[in-house]
Amino acid sequence: MPGEYVYRGVHYCFVHKGVDIDMMKEWQVRPSDVLLATPPKSGTTWMGEILRLMRGFHPQLSEDEDSEKLGMLPFLEMELPFLPNAVKNKDNIPSPRFIKTHLPYEFTKGKVEQEGLKVIAVLREPKDTLTSLYYHYCLDVLGYPGDFHQFFELVRQDRLIGGNIFKMARDWWQARHLPNVLVVKYEEMKKDTAAVVRRVGEFLQIPLDDKAVGDIVQRCSMGEMRKSMADQTKDKNGKNFIDVNQFLRKGIIGDWKNIFNEDEVEFVDECVRKYYDPLVSTSTCD
Ligand code: A3P
Repeated sequence: MPGEYVYRGVHYCFVHKGVDIDMMKEWQVRPSDVLLATPPKSGTTWMGEILRLMRGFHPQLSEDEDSEKLGMLPFLEMELPFLPNAVKNKDNIPSPRFIKTHLPYEFTKGKVEQEGLKVIAVLREPKDTLTSLYYHYCLDVLGYPGDFHQFFELVRQDRLIGGNIFKMARDWWQARHLPNVLVVKYEEMKKDTAAVVRRVGEFLQIPLDDKAVGDIVQRCSMGEMRKSMADQTKDKNGKNFIDVNQFLRKGIIGDWKNIFNEDEVEFVDECVRKYYDPLVSTSTCD
């Protein structure tokens, strides 16, 4: 991939150019900070939208702040044309700060385990994650030219941009017993979005009545999110930086069945056994 480089054994690309463990030293955790941590393509944007909307009900929000104006959650490690980097802009982001990351667990481990940083981790069936990731690689911004089976060779070689999704999921799953970590599955969000919204609200101690829950659920549907994302990712000339319909693509469970061959299924199943076992029955794969 053009612009690809390796940092601490993980492959990154130009959009991750801000990745640097030293940046973390510049970030002092505030008690109200919330980190949304996910392997890429696990439902980050969806949970991000839920959190953005939920932040509007946060008891510590100042009365004159319009939470929604903050837009999409900033990334800890990335800076995008439409999204300033969270660490570089840490002093300009009002509390409570809601930040997202695809960094492997080790990057934030100290802040989570010693400083009590609150984390919401979203995990997804890995075959669906990889399917979604393949289509993400094909977006103009990355411009991957190969087919899915060529892409899958990168999975086999552990050369995915952003790191190994199995290890990332395993590490967050293993951290789920910490009182400051909540693990949510994409499949649960699909099955009962309202229940997940309530669970996240309880975890963050944000009071939500039934109307608030209903509004959040309605506003984080694919259709509403496509509209909101299209508005937020425009350049000065009104052109979108990303193809929103490709980014918020299908949003279904089981799309992997349309693209995986038997060998690829076997490889992922083996990875799941290797990384998750004996967690598999309760992990993203049930
Ligand atoms: P697909 O490519 O399978 O459609 P991320 O935000 O971590 O990059 O994840 C993107 C995936 O989450 C995409 O999956 C996208 O369609 C899905 N997604 C985003 N918003 C969603 C929503 N409101 N409902 C269901 N799926 C959603």
